[in-house]
Amino acid sequence: MSDTTTPKTRRVLSGIQPSGRLHLGNYFGAIRQYLKLQADGHECFYFIANYHAMTSLRDKAELEAATMHVATAYLALGIDPARSVFFLQSDVPQVTELCWMLNTVCPVTLMQKATSYKDKIARGLVANMGLFDYPVLQAADITIYDANLVPVGQDQKQHIEITRDLAIKFNQTFAADVLVPPEPYIVAEVAVVPGLDGQKMSKSYDNTIEIFQTDKQTKKRCGRIVTDSTPMEDPKNPDTCNVFALLKLLADQAELDEIAAAYRAGGYGYGQAKNRLAELINALFAGPREKYAAYENDPDTVRDILREGGRRARQVAEATMARVRDAAGIVTTY
Ligand code: ADP
Ligand code: TRP
Repeated sequence: MSDTTTPKTRRVLSGIQPSGRLHLGNYFGAIRQYLKLQADGHECFYFIANYHAMTSLRDKAELEAATMHVATAYLALGIDPARSVFFLQSDVPQVTELCWMLNTVCPVTLMQKATSYKDKIARGLVANMGLFDYPVLQAADITIYDANLVPVGQDQKQHIEITRDLAIKFNQTFAADVLVPPEPYIVAEVAVVPGLDGQKMSKSYDNTIEIFQTDKQTKKRCGRIVTDSTPMEDPKNPDTCNVFALLKLLADQAELDEIAAAYRAGGYGYGQAKNRLAELINALFAGPREKYAAYENDPDTVRDILREGGRRARQVAEATMARVRDAAGIVTTY
C-alpha cells in the first residue's frame, strides 16, 4: 500500500465503469480514497469509463442512464470540479489512439494472464477483443495523464501492474522516456468489501447495498444480509459475521467494541445489528442523497461540469500524445 499521508503532490487518476448503480463496495473500496486524495491537495483526474462499460453493456438507454447516474453520484458524494478534473472517457478520443499504440507493444500472453478477463469469461461474458483488450485501454487511461497514483480496490491491482509493464515496455521499445509507470493506491482494510452473501460486493453478484436508495430500501437490503441461525439468546462470533464485517466500515471503534461484546455475550440478535448498520448507512449518505436529487433535477449542470473537465483532460492528453507519436515515428500533418 502507498503511504496514506502522501505528502508530495502527486498526479492521481481513477475511473469507474458506468455499468450499474453505485454500492458500498465502490464507496469504501474506491470513492472514499478519491475524496481523501482530493482533500489532500493532489492533482486529481477522475473519469467515467464508458468505453470500458461497452464490454459488458450493450443497451443504449442503459449505458446513457448509467453514465448520468455515476456522474451525478460522484458530484453528490463530493468530487469537486473546482479541485479535480472530472470527465467522460469518451470526451478524450486520444485515449483510444494511445490504446492502439500500446497494443502494438503488448504481448498477447500478458493479456492471457489477466484474472479479471478470465473471471468475466467464466461468468459467461462473450470473449470479444474489447474484453481481451480491456487492460490496455485502462493502461492508456492512466498513462495519457502521466498519473503517478491510481486509487482502486484490490481487484484492480493486476491492471495497474499491467499498466506499469506496458509503460516501461513502450519506453524501452522506443528508447524514450515518454510514459510514467504508475503505482496503485489500495487501502488494506477496505480492499474487499463483502456483499450480502459474504462474497465480494459486486453488481454482477446481485449482493450489493446501493448508496443512492431510500432509507427504507437500505433497511430492507440490510435485512437480507446472510447470517447463521444462532438463536438470539446465544453467544455469537463477530469475526465470522457478514453484518459485523460491514459495521466495521461504518461504526467508530467504541461502538464496534460494544457490539462485539454484545455478540459474544449473547442476547443480541442479528436483526439488531442489521438495523444499526442501516442507520449508519443512512446517516452517512443523507447529505449526498439530497445533493443527488438536486443534480438529478439539473442534468445540464452535470453535463456542463463534464464538458469543462473533458476540455482540461484533452489538453493534458494531447500533450502526452504529441510526445508519444513523436517517439514512435507517427507522422501527423494536422
Ligand atoms: P463491480 O464489481 O460492482 O462491477 P466495479 O468493478 O465497477 O464494481 O468497481 C469500481 C471500483 O470500485 C473499483 O475501483 C473497484 O476496485 C471498487 N470496488 C468494487 N467493488 C468492491 C468491493 N466489494 N470491495 C472493494 N472495492 C470494490
Ligand atoms: N477497470 C476499472 C474498474 O472496473 C475501471 C477503470 C477504467 C479504471 N480505466 C481505469 C480504474 C483507469 C483506474 C484507472 O473498476
